[in-house]
Amino acid sequence: MHIVNGIINSMLLNLLKALLFQTQRQAPVSDAEKCRMALTAGHLDAASRILRKTIKHNVNEPELWFLQGEIEWRRGDHMAALAAYQKASDYAPANPCYRLKIGECHHRLGNDEEAALLCKVLLAQDPNFNPARALLCDIELPGPGYMEVLAHLHDTLRPSTYLEVGVAAGHTLCLAARSTSAVGIDPNPVINVALGPNTKIFKMTSDEFFGNENAQSVLQGRSINMAFIDGMHRYEFVLRDFRAIEKYCDASSVVLIHDCYPTDRESATNVQLTKFWSGDVWKSIVALKKYRPDLKIHTIATGPTGLALVSNLDRNSTVLHEHMDEITAEMNATDFSALERRKRELLNCYPNEWREIDSLVARRGVH
Ligand SMILES: C[S@@+](CC[C@H](N)C(=O)[O-])C[C@H]1O[C@@H](n2cnc3c(N)ncnc32)[C@H](O)[C@@H]1O
Repeated sequence: MHIVNGIINSMLLNLLKALLFQTQRQAPVSDAEKCRMALTAGHLDAASRILRKTIKHNVNEPELWFLQGEIEWRRGDHMAALAAYQKASDYAPANPCYRLKIGECHHRLGNDEEAALLCKVLLAQDPNFNPARALLCDIELPGPGYMEVLAHLHDTLRPSTYLEVGVAAGHTLCLAARSTSAVGIDPNPVINVALGPNTKIFKMTSDEFFGNENAQSVLQGRSINMAFIDGMHRYEFVLRDFRAIEKYCDASSVVLIHDCYPTDRESATNVQLTKFWSGDVWKSIVALKKYRPDLKIHTIATGPTGLALVSNLDRNSTVLHEHMDEITAEMNATDFSALERRKRELLNCYPNEWREIDSLVARRGVH
């Protein structure tokens, strides 16, 4: 009986396989697929011809309108693309990709306010929908990215000493010139690039480094010419890092603070909730501007999350130490909406253009 059952089962299985194989072989290529193939090959007119034929009979099909949008987008007709993506979205309102395309069209058409608003709605719905964050970044922080800006600052300032908090894979630490004495601090460094011969890594938190290591002897008695704070993305940590670093700076030093320009509320939380996380580093800029008006602070509008350049440092200042409790209470009570209302002003945003950056560097320390 078992043997008979086994034979029947295997015959049925073979029949099923044969049927499946036949269906796969004979499955006709849909018009949408043909259109997609023509688009991929760059044959816009052919794609358009295929689509025109099929869309007449399937007007409610969102994917066809999306393809229509893609054709118009590639033709550079952003107005026509917007209309088509809008139709796709009308027929599939829950699809975030169609809505993002609408945002991209608005951006190309110069309606940045509308585009940004749409991105924020999409991020509120799904805080990990990074394409919306990328579009927000294109809108608010165009131009060279922070790594390029950092590399340019190394080239311009030629620091003989450089300290970096938050090293990760070493992609920013390796921007230091070979002749620079570089110090990297990170409890979990995962270096996968070649670092300069004068680079030392300290596998510990910045609090541990400044609390336990003899920074003076690590620096061989020299000042820190340039520092980059990119460790824990919480304002309390950044302020502590800044306060500790400033003790080793002089009048011409610069301290750079990364991630101080968050594009959206969802990635700007004090505790990490999103994969892409700026944290509330922005509060450290607000606090420094208020409590240390003697500092020169400019946030270069470089993507993806801004880079503040702080100069006119004073190693003898005790203000942050004395007011830390007050600052913490004030910043804990400050909501992201306060930043959203006056972002450019509160962060003292600065143009992300080489000429402007060079002029800022040349004027550092001078009010
Ligand atoms: C965003 S990554 C740094 C990226 C790197 N600077 C770059 O641009 O390629 C942040 C790093 O900070 C480190 N970090 C977290 N908490 C820290 C702390 N308290 N002190 C120093 N580094 C810390 C993390 O281990 C992580 O590697």
